[in-house]
Amino acid sequence: MQISVIGCGYLGAVHAACMAELGHDVVGIDVDAAKVESLSKGVAPFHEPGFDELLKRNVDSGRLRFSTDFADLAEAQVHFIGVGTPQVQGGYAADLTYLNAAVESLLPHLNHHTNGPTLVVGKSTVPVGTAAEIADKLAPTGALLVWNPEFLREGFAVQDTISPDRIVYGLPRDADQAESAKSVLDDVYKQLIAADIPRLTTDYATAELVKVAANSFLATKISFINAMAELCEATGADVTQLAEAIGHDDRIGKKFLRAGIGFGGGCLPKDIRAFMARAGELGVDQALTFLREVDSINDRRREHAINLARVAVGGTFTGRRVAVLGAAFKPDSDDMRNSPALDIANSIAGEGATVTVTDPAAGPVLARRRPDMNVAEDAYAAATGADVVLLLTEWKQFKDLDPARLKDVVRNPWIIDGRNALDPTTWREAGWTYNGIGRP
Ligand code: UDX
Repeated sequence: MQISVIGCGYLGAVHAACMAELGHDVVGIDVDAAKVESLSKGVAPFHEPGFDELLKRNVDSGRLRFSTDFADLAEAQVHFIGVGTPQVQGGYAADLTYLNAAVESLLPHLNHHTNGPTLVVGKSTVPVGTAAEIADKLAPTGALLVWNPEFLREGFAVQDTISPDRIVYGLPRDADQAESAKSVLDDVYKQLIAADIPRLTTDYATAELVKVAANSFLATKISFINAMAELCEATGADVTQLAEAIGHDDRIGKKFLRAGIGFGGGCLPKDIRAFMARAGELGVDQALTFLREVDSINDRRREHAINLARVAVGGTFTGRRVAVLGAAFKPDSDDMRNSPALDIANSIAGEGATVTVTDPAAGPVLARRRPDMNVAEDAYAAATGADVVLLLTEWKQFKDLDPARLKDVVRNPWIIDGRNALDPTTWREAGWTYNGIGRP
């Protein structure tokens, strides 16, 4: 099948490569010429395990190409839209500039096909109601819209695209249109459907809401356990044991109950805020007041880590050396959007400390973007002469650190484990003062 993917950021580039891997003929479209050039050479513009090989293999096979020119997608029957919907400057709402521009650029190139309708498939995360507006714009062309939210996690993007937990189709209200749109998209996802991945069909609004509801639930789980961490800190209890014990109840589950410095990234923070903004527009803001609390518990964890570090260095950061292990918002990613680690590093530097950051994937990106920041090759280099070490992104490299070797290079062996990634006993026995989050 001939497919286009508009927007070749994280979501779009991975989706394009995965669709080519399924055997389709795919063109990825992006307005960023540098990104298109890199992808066309088979070079991934971001760090994602398994993506480099997948991209190269499919570019080399000729099934996958990239372009800045919308005219190059005219042959395609199915057009996925995966552009970003970031938080607006100075507000909580989602910025739909890229999405609207993508739709406008696509409209003149929507052609008829003999083997079924032309489909536009929305994958971006949007405020509920957006799909219906896009469907109205498409109506004169005869193209049909399906809203097909994407649930991929960074670090597992390829696996999550080829083998998702579920597929959701938000379909047109008209039953005939819904049926023909569904059968075209079923063809695209033939292998996934054959693998018995649950496929749910809904209306547009439900499909849009499924995505933001899922992310809100995940964010709530994290803030819930971080709130429990605050209770544990006040009482000498251990939140890691608490999480394990409640997680044995299947209704609660063990996943997403890791207390620490909280959630970041390009999705959870902005999605819960955009959801609150949309609820306000719909006159049901009270329904989501709890998300405000989820957001502020999350912010408080960053402040808490900074407070712990300030205590460790004797009450003031001025003139102190601080090592920060991690800059990405999570391991196996070089993404620093709304990264708790980077936010904490910036705040501590702002209070007068000399901060040295290291991160296996985000480090080189940070060094290029932020000449003002000290970026070290590895944890041992970052920690040399440090008054306190903060582990803020739980990369395997950091979990495997040798406490004895690290102790030899620091000035003061004090570690703040912002992700509860280390074994406190091992580190204490090696002579470190160890602070976890929500642990005695
Ligand atoms: C998230 C959703 O998981 C995914 O389904 C959606 O499509 C996009 O948003 P992602 O942003 O890649 O994916 O990261 P995720 O793995 O969800 O982690 C988000 C943040 O929460 C990270 O900063 C992570 O460190 C933090 N986190 C996660 C915790 O603090 N504790 C946990 O228990 C889990």
